[in-house]
Amino acid sequence: MEKELEKLAGEIAAAVNAAKTREELEAARVKYLGKKGALTAFFDKLGSLPKEEKPKAGALLNTLRKKADALLAEKAEGLESCSESNALDATLPGRNFSTGRYHPLTIISNEAKEIFKSLNFQIIEGPEIESDYYNFEALNFPPHHPARDMQNSFHLGNGMLLRTHTSPVQVRTMEKQKPPLRMITIGKCYRSDASDQTHTPMFHQIEGLMVDENINFGDLKGILKVFFSRLFEREVNIRFNPSYFPFTEPSVEVSFSCHVCGGSGCSVCKKTGWIEIGGAGMVDPNVFKSIGYDSERWTGFAFGWGIERLAMIKYGINDIRLFPENDLRFLGQFE
Ligand code: DAH
Repeated sequence: MEKELEKLAGEIAAAVNAAKTREELEAARVKYLGKKGALTAFFDKLGSLPKEEKPKAGALLNTLRKKADALLAEKAEGLESCSESNALDATLPGRNFSTGRYHPLTIISNEAKEIFKSLNFQIIEGPEIESDYYNFEALNFPPHHPARDMQNSFHLGNGMLLRTHTSPVQVRTMEKQKPPLRMITIGKCYRSDASDQTHTPMFHQIEGLMVDENINFGDLKGILKVFFSRLFEREVNIRFNPSYFPFTEPSVEVSFSCHVCGGSGCSVCKKTGWIEIGGAGMVDPNVFKSIGYDSERWTGFAFGWGIERLAMIKYGINDIRLFPENDLRFLGQFE
């Protein structure tokens, strides 16, 4: 009997150990200590043993029973402390803690600001609600000039409108500061265009202005070369094509050599080697006149283009409407 009890003790310990839930533990208890349990059966047999064996067998059985009770209690406590509510299930996917990120337009704007700051340009802000004077007149758009029609304005009445470009900030800056000066501004602009792949009624522009003695096209080209080379992290060349803006004379359309192929021609630059980005030119003497700068002494260049277009080129984005949509699957892709 001693041997049998020893074997049973092993079985009980193994069964208790193997139980993973309270139900399994209860099943093990019933199997060995229940009314018809294996250990209980030994107690039933005690009566039929010879008298002299009874005390020893009884003591053995009691010891085993106490041990089994203790094992069950200990296991029950263990199961309790990792009950279902706080059990660790290593098969579940981990929890995702997402961190905030900058909008791609903010990333590009910050990069542009850093580059121009390093070239000693001030960062200036201007109002989004503008007067006709700053948005057009002081920039040499005469009252019925056709170029006004090209900038489908949101008119607010009283001669006020949502600015159609960031160029009015040039005028505001020159009114407050005497030359020499270097400034950029970045901000929202509005035009009543229908949304499509390349248009949204609200968009962002960067505008730059540098005024000093003897400023010329060479200075403009040099500054733009440094800017685009830093932004695209490779040396690019700048190309000027003739263009027209009322506030610059001469005016140019600025292109830079393709940042992907380096100018040899690829699908990004449509095999031309060049990417067109925006307008620039030498500040028209009429603009200086409206501010009161002496256009015989001071010359300057200005430039302006869309921040969205810059971001689309840099990140290879083909639809401008993605920027204001704020779909996290889109926004999550930019560092
Ligand atoms: N303001 C122009 C536009 O919105 C862009 C521009 C062109 C700005 C030439 C400039 C410039 O400063 O010199 O279309």
